[in-house]
Amino acid sequence: MKRIESCMTCCGPESANILKIAVRAALKAGKALRELYDKPHQVSHKGDIDLVTEADMSSERIIFAVLDKARLNAEILTEESHPVYNEIPTGPVWIIDPLDGTTNFVHGFPWFAVSIAYAEGDRNRVGVIYCPMQNELFCGCVDGGAWLNGKPISVSRVRVLDESLLATGFPYDVRRKPSEVMDLLEAVLTRAQGIRRAGAAALDLAYVACGRLDGFWEIKLKPWDTAAGQLLLEEAGGKISDLRGGTYSPFIPEILATNGLIHEELLSVIKAVPDHI
Ligand code: IPD
Ligand code: CA
Ligand code: CA
Repeated sequence: MKRIESCMTCCGPESANILKIAVRAALKAGKALRELYDKPHQVSHKGDIDLVTEADMSSERIIFAVLDKARLNAEILTEESHPVYNEIPTGPVWIIDPLDGTTNFVHGFPWFAVSIAYAEGDRNRVGVIYCPMQNELFCGCVDGGAWLNGKPISVSRVRVLDESLLATGFPYDVRRKPSEVMDLLEAVLTRAQGIRRAGAAALDLAYVACGRLDGFWEIKLKPWDTAAGQLLLEEAGGKISDLRGGTYSPFIPEILATNGLIHEELLSVIKAVPDHI
């Protein structure tokens, strides 16, 4: 917990307590993922290419146990066992992705994370993203800042798309209508310096927040993919919208997240793609 001491002093006592709980859960779950990483996996299919493993479930159980112990009166929205929401929660809610990057995990590609956000209504209050294989802990709290392993982070200063390194991801139903992804990809690919598809949306957002990437977009994401990342990015000085430039919330499936400086330029490229969402 040493690496979050400086963050906690910036957060205010209530958020600091929530941050501590979220960090404890993320580190514990991340440790379990690290230990399971090079063991054989039990893989099931939720869809053609949408996988779930014993590690997703075990990470989720570990997070629940930590949250249970903390006894905060909050709802839980989590990818594997409580993924359903009919309405956007209005009260306190934990929004959890126990293993973001399951496909990578299954293939032994060491790029995945635990993502935990605490929100009140549609306002994120605390966000934690932990990348176990790199031992990198990103965390932030509303109006307090964002940190990587205890050091403050901020977005990059790249001003133009032509010099930007971007990330994106592909939805699990991509085989049904690849053009939904390809048209956007083609439009942006010919304007950016580079595009990465590393396979964990939470980390893509954390990387924009700390300036390693300049922007990220994706369609058909879920609240647990982006809630913690949204908070980190906003606290690090970035900008988030939907793909039309409208207000973003983790309950909106399309996201455009940037360092702020390239937002309008990237948005105009995306908007020029016919039927882009
Ligand atoms: C997925 C990853 C991936 C993104 C997918 C997500 P999961 O999450 O974040 O990068 O492209 O859209 O669903 O299934 O590994 O938790
Ligand atoms: Ca995910
Ligand atoms: Ca997941």
